[in-house]
Amino acid sequence: TITVDPAAEGARIDDTMYGVFFEDINRAADGGLYAELVQNRSFEYSTADNGSYTPLTSWSVTGTAEVVNDSGRLNERNRNYLSLGAGSSVTNAGYNTGVRVEKGKRYDFSVWARAASGTTLTVSLKDAAGALATTRQVAVEGGWAQYEATFTAARTSNRGRLTVAATDAAALDMVSLFPRDTYKNQPNGLRKDLAEKIAALKPGFVRFPGGCLVNTGSMEDYSEASGWQRKRSYQWKDTIGPVEERATNANFWGYNQSYGLGYYEYFRFAEDIGAMPLPVVPALVTGCGQNRATDDEALLKRHIQDTLDLIEFANGPATSTWGKVRAQMGHPKPFHLTHIGVGNEENLPREFFARFERFRAAIKAEYPDITVISNSGPDDSGTTFDTAWQLNREGRVDMVDEHYYNSPQWFLQNNDRYDSYDRGGPKVFLGEYASQGNAWKNGLAEAAFMTGLERNADIVKLASYAPLLANEDYVQWSPDMIWFNNHASWGSANYEVQKLFMTNVGDRVVPSRASTTPDVSGPITGSVGLSTWATSAAYDDVRVTSADGSTLLSDDFSGDASRWTHSGGGSWSVRDGQYVQTDEAAENTLVTAGDPAWHDYDLHVRATKKSGK
Ligand code: AHR
Repeated sequence: TITVDPAAEGARIDDTMYGVFFEDINRAADGGLYAELVQNRSFEYSTADNGSYTPLTSWSVTGTAEVVNDSGRLNERNRNYLSLGAGSSVTNAGYNTGVRVEKGKRYDFSVWARAASGTTLTVSLKDAAGALATTRQVAVEGGWAQYEATFTAARTSNRGRLTVAATDAAALDMVSLFPRDTYKNQPNGLRKDLAEKIAALKPGFVRFPGGCLVNTGSMEDYSEASGWQRKRSYQWKDTIGPVEERATNANFWGYNQSYGLGYYEYFRFAEDIGAMPLPVVPALVTGCGQNRATDDEALLKRHIQDTLDLIEFANGPATSTWGKVRAQMGHPKPFHLTHIGVGNEENLPREFFARFERFRAAIKAEYPDITVISNSGPDDSGTTFDTAWQLNREGRVDMVDEHYYNSPQWFLQNNDRYDSYDRGGPKVFLGEYASQGNAWKNGLAEAAFMTGLERNADIVKLASYAPLLANEDYVQWSPDMIWFNNHASWGSANYEVQKLFMTNVGDRVVPSRASTTPDVSGPITGSVGLSTWATSAAYDDVRVTSADGSTLLSDDFSGDASRWTHSGGGSWSVRDGQYVQTDEAAENTLVTAGDPAWHDYDLHVRATKKSGK
């Protein structure tokens, strides 16, 4: 029985309460949300990204071709290019089973090429059954220039191959095939079915670009001085401007990231789906098992300045230095950034917090209204977590990002997690959570848990399930919310739960009380199908009564808080914060062992909350 008091005003639930967390994990970007169909388009794949890679990964050569890294390159941030011999060709295998094309749809081919004495490029789209579109020819002459051609697919195929053949020697780079039909028809845009599935959630915010992706690897830039560092943390300036000038990078999750989907595209996507953009920048302390703090003051200052520049890129007028870059990319109006995360899951709370404070001071000095989000490390409890929270509380941080991946049972048992959080302390951003699985029971456990988030909407201000996307053929992390391959996508049970909550956000919490009647029918010999739990931190008194009102179990938490007083004798104890019965004799007060008859018990659980909690 649920009793509500509609007149009582509970906490306000912000429209931004539920959002999504996009990280390029499981090929969520290249081969995923980013609509590019050619894999390794700039021949930059390297063993630094993945031990099995070469600059020709995903390409096959007929005749002669080699990847060259010399001063003849397209530009200094795009180090490699392909030198294709006369009468030779290269073929790209795309992602998953190949290049996906759909009958009647248009595909834009482009390539940067140079051929001092001229060449003709023949570009074809085929699968094992033959041509997928009319072959195109492109005449190339002189230095580096971009050439284009458009295909209309005559058939649908998931196994296409894109081939570029040259009559005479040519240099090629940035070989691209892009569907014309992208989400909201944006150029350099997003795969429609995936973007639509995300948009259907009506996210209040988009947290990006990670995760471990953000603060792992080197904090150096991509320059000669750093030896063209190939394992860099996610640095936003790497990811904007013309795509051929975005230096690719090793992705923490074991592949290459082209940055074709970069900061500009993230902001644009957030705007297109009506969500608040929420970027996360590295705090100069590595996380995710790397656990190193950078002491290089110049590097720290450069990253702090980069963060200020990012805010200007998002919000500055088109006349400002970075606002102008945004305008040149096609968006003169600001993106309205209001929240920014500094750091992700640092395992060194003190080192992290010292640097976080430097970022925050610089941001607040220039942009006092921006909410600067800290985090509580990689765990949901324990020493690192406690220290991080203590520092965040003492440092009067605006908001703390918490992450946890636990069993469905844990989610069921921790519905009250935020009931006792200090209302005077930082707000909570639950930036990553999931119960371990994509089964229905996982979605259900998450739904149960989310009622606890919502009940505590005064303190839990933002929440996002994680990870968002997974290409089924390139999985580093499971479970995930939305799954896909090169031609289809499908939401998990967890996706449906998120959608249910995200598309039905209330305005206010309506305080309610519930009493339950557990189903105890069944051939019970050893135990009664009743489980309940409570912690002395949250409750003054917990009791289980039978229908006639007599007390079966109770605990007023005086004395030994780990014991129930059990009317029929027997003992109960606390394990993992849950009360469990430890003495089988106790059960016999309800059901006699071996009794084959069915019994109906109407049990009532009553818990009195501590005042103020
Ligand atoms: O969501 C997957 C990973 O989980 C994130 O990259 C990281 O923040 C967390 O450990």
